[in-house]
Amino acid sequence: MKELSYLNKYLVKYKGRLLLGTLFIIVSNIFKVLMPEILKDATNSVKIVLDNITSYTSEDITSIAIKLGFLFMLFALLNGIFLFLTRQTIIIMSRLIEYDLKNEIYDKYQRLSMSFYKRNNTGDLMNRISEDVGKVRMYLGPAIMYTINVAVLIVMVVSFMIKISPLLTLYVLIPLPLMSILVYKVSSLINKKSEVTQVQQSKLSTFVQETFSGIRVLKAYNREAFFKNEFDKESRNYKMASLSLAKTNALFIPVIVSLIGLCTVITVYFGGLKSINGELSIGEILQFIFYINMLTWPIASIGWVTSLIQRAAASQKRVNEFLQENPEITDKKNSVAFESGNIIFNNVYFTYSNTNTEALKNVSFEIEKGKTLAITGKTGSGKSTLANLICRLFDVNTGEVSINGMNVKSIQKKSLRTNIGYVPQEVFLFSDTIANNIAFGNKSSEPNNQEVESSAKKAAVYDNIIEFENGFDTVIGERGITLSGGQKQRISIARAIINNPEILIFDDCLSAVDTKTEEAILSNLKEIMNNKTSIIISHRISSIKHADYIIVLDKGLISEKGTHAELINNKEYYSTTFEKQLLEEKMN
Ligand SMILES: Nc1ncnc2c1ncn2[C@@H]1O[C@H](COP(=O)(O)OP(=O)(O)OP(=O)(O)O)[C@@H](O)[C@H]1O
Ligand SMILES: [Mg+2]
Repeated sequence: MKELSYLNKYLVKYKGRLLLGTLFIIVSNIFKVLMPEILKDATNSVKIVLDNITSYTSEDITSIAIKLGFLFMLFALLNGIFLFLTRQTIIIMSRLIEYDLKNEIYDKYQRLSMSFYKRNNTGDLMNRISEDVGKVRMYLGPAIMYTINVAVLIVMVVSFMIKISPLLTLYVLIPLPLMSILVYKVSSLINKKSEVTQVQQSKLSTFVQETFSGIRVLKAYNREAFFKNEFDKESRNYKMASLSLAKTNALFIPVIVSLIGLCTVITVYFGGLKSINGELSIGEILQFIFYINMLTWPIASIGWVTSLIQRAAASQKRVNEFLQENPEITDKKNSVAFESGNIIFNNVYFTYSNTNTEALKNVSFEIEKGKTLAITGKTGSGKSTLANLICRLFDVNTGEVSINGMNVKSIQKKSLRTNIGYVPQEVFLFSDTIANNIAFGNKSSEPNNQEVESSAKKAAVYDNIIEFENGFDTVIGERGITLSGGQKQRISIARAIINNPEILIFDDCLSAVDTKTEEAILSNLKEIMNNKTSIIISHRISSIKHADYIIVLDKGLISEKGTHAELINNKEYYSTTFEKQLLEEKMN
């Protein structure tokens, strides 16, 4: 329950609905408990009429029957109407809170740092915002509603029963707690089994999803039969789990029905004895039986509700874990707005905390404002890591990254990132139109056709785009057109430059284009990069040889530093790679 107390703020927010719902529950139960009272009157009237049949005309009997029948129907109707209103208030309240909670979690997700995403997998993030919130909603809606309902109903029904016969009430109520415990046991078992089923179900769907996303590789490697077998195996496991669940489910109703039967038998037996002694009327016994039936489901539901609450608490615990995470990268109190200037790395060390990989060691360099720095080096040498540190996707461990003399940690995160045009190494485009994907980088994020087109031109992808039937409105992604690797990279460049940012970072973003396109893009970019500080990361020396400075990284350390002309004489990684690449080009 401690975990669920987090939700109290929402219950307070919607207290109006909660109170109204409680009121509706009380009113609907008043009509409900009055119904057996009418039945008692009806039964007793029948007995009176039968005993004194000569003194009643058929009109008398009809009018009694109509009066009682009408009252019964009226109460049933009112009970129904208020039950409807109860659901309309409390269940809707739970939906509203579900909506708020999902928004809160999503908002939190967006603010958490990259390292959080490295620690937690996507499936887990998705589960907590969908399935776990769903289970929490079961507490906020049904569980709260049934709990109030049981409390109100027990108080009302039991006081009516005691009024009729305290002793009989005692006899009948003894089996009910037993029932509640049994239901609790059975529902816990059901929950456990349905969790197993769910896990198996999500395994199955992950498997299918992977099959489809990797369908090309799957077909190319002739792995259809193997995958079919694997699917069979997973599918069989799912079947076993659901069959076991179905068996336990089948146990549920018989358990309750037999207990109701037991209570009814007790009532008839002891009530019968009392009736023979003249202590109770037949109508009262009937009324009693109705009350028992009225109580059984709600009392049974205590067990069910308990297990709902337990599950909700477990889910809320998982949700709270994420809600209580603090974003590691935040704005400092006195953070300032971005100002362009020299970028300086001063003895920077960086280790990925999740794997303890030392990605950068003692890295120092300076890029003057408006100049271009190129970074090359073997794969895994720390180039992308270096780029991430400038955008503050991660923070350095020791040392300092500064722009215009200001530590990046003291620059407002938002202002820093809007002023950096970053083309990440792994291109990610949204399942949306090309225009929207490019406009995504815009400050106002309002697609302005002219800006979108001009940045597409600069990224040398304009001609490709207008060849598509729908041009810039072409939808890309799963249900849209599939772009080539090079097209994606250039759209990603267009997205980064649309904002005309002060700092440009291109992380290996020309790897998928041929040398001719590369040259075209580079000469276009020269115009954009004019007066902008840029960082170009590439394995291809031809992309970077014109840069003002070049550094070569090796296992996180700077191994070479200088201009193309200087490095070419070094006879180290840079010059040997350059020669190799020249040779390759000639052979092509
Ligand atoms: N998110 C991460 N968590 C843990 N380790 C990481 C992470 N990203 C990179 N690494 C590790 O840090 C080191 C540097 O990686 P980085 O991506 O910076 O290399 P790179 O020079 O960009 O390589 P490439 O040329 O292949 O893109 C590598 O050893 C890599 O395994
Ligand atoms: Mg990289």
